[in-house]
Amino acid sequence: MATIVLDRVADALAALKNEHLAQSLYDEGKVIMDGVLLTLHGEEHRKRRVLEFRVFRRSFFRYYETEVFPRALAEILGPEIAKGRTDLVEFGYRITMNLTADFAGIDRPEKSARETEALLKIVKTFSEGATLVHSTRDKEEVRNEVRAALVEFDRLFLQPSIARRLDLIARFNRGEIAEDDLPRDVLTVLLRNEDKVDLPPDLLRREIAFYLQAGSHSTANSTVHAIHHVFEWLRDHPEDRERVLKDRLFLQRCVHESLRLHPASPVSWRRPVCPVSLSTGASAEPTDRIEINLWAANRQKDIFGEDADAYNPHRSVAQGYEPFGLTFGTGVHTCLGRDLDGGLVAKGDVDPANHQYGIITLLVGALLDAGARPDPDDPPELATYTERPNWGRYPVLFRR
Ligand code: HEM
Repeated sequence: MATIVLDRVADALAALKNEHLAQSLYDEGKVIMDGVLLTLHGEEHRKRRVLEFRVFRRSFFRYYETEVFPRALAEILGPEIAKGRTDLVEFGYRITMNLTADFAGIDRPEKSARETEALLKIVKTFSEGATLVHSTRDKEEVRNEVRAALVEFDRLFLQPSIARRLDLIARFNRGEIAEDDLPRDVLTVLLRNEDKVDLPPDLLRREIAFYLQAGSHSTANSTVHAIHHVFEWLRDHPEDRERVLKDRLFLQRCVHESLRLHPASPVSWRRPVCPVSLSTGASAEPTDRIEINLWAANRQKDIFGEDADAYNPHRSVAQGYEPFGLTFGTGVHTCLGRDLDGGLVAKGDVDPANHQYGIITLLVGALLDAGARPDPDDPPELATYTERPNWGRYPVLFRR
């Protein structure tokens, strides 16, 4: 088997759009990723994506951002501000887990700290399973933890969430409630299954588990990276303080710049389903691995500038490219949470009052509004359980 590395934007884009290349990054993590949307190929992938896409409409993101999210944020951030401190990694996971549970369709009926902790522990285990390829731990041990977490997840969260939705769907079918009264989430869409996609119970369980971890893991890590860069930028560029704190459109640029430097996974892998020619001129066989190096492509100097390795929210990017580079992927597997998390890229005259900023900008903005700053006596540390360069803990203090 040969590994063919693509680290230029044009080649990466071509490969991500090539219909003869199938997903292969999650083969190690089959315990949680087998048969889920991200690992499917061809017609099977298209059908499931079309079905699930119903949840990810732009009009809904705007509603979520202005109505649902502020309440969830206040519930979780309020007590942390009152304490005067928090760990951003823990906080990030807690808030984004709630966010993705809403989208996935997992109820938290108790709304208690105990319930949140239980789901949080399960979701973190799922994330370790999904990213097994980059794990530094004993892989079989992680797989066993994931198997146990799936059983617990099913009993505590999934089955009650299914039961409530089946009841609502039955009432809707009898004409007792309107379609708008049904929950708007992936689980409801899959249970209604209007397109008759084949989804046995164990696959449904993995699919929902995948959503929970895909959304929360990447959002939490990206939020901590983003605020870390903002802290450093403010330290080195005090002249930008006012802008960072008051101008949300500029803060969104700060977030996009951080997303560019920190793709959730530094690489995407693909396996040819038949012999293919790549845009580089190389040929690849089904036994080969195509490694698309998003991390390197996002630093390509002729697109992102001579200082592409550095963080600079004032950067202008070559026309036709996104400020966050390839961080949300492209092609058939383009991230369904892209606009939800990253918002819309501000182009031309944008009304700041009605712009969709994305959850990460809202989170970073709320933390800055509360006066968050790194704890000088407790420096942040990188995570050790993964080869991915994510923060393991990041203590901050709030303004009293
Ligand atoms: C900063 C946060 C996020 C980043 C950086 C990110 C990144 C990505 C990337 C790179 C892919 C494609 C992987 C590939 O082509 O191999 C992807 C796929 C996906 N993401 Fe995200 N993601 C984020 C947040 C979210 C959220 C919040 C959700 C859901 C609420 C989500 C749902 C998905 C789904 C469902 C797919 C699979 C799409 C498909 O295979 O058709 N993501 N994400």
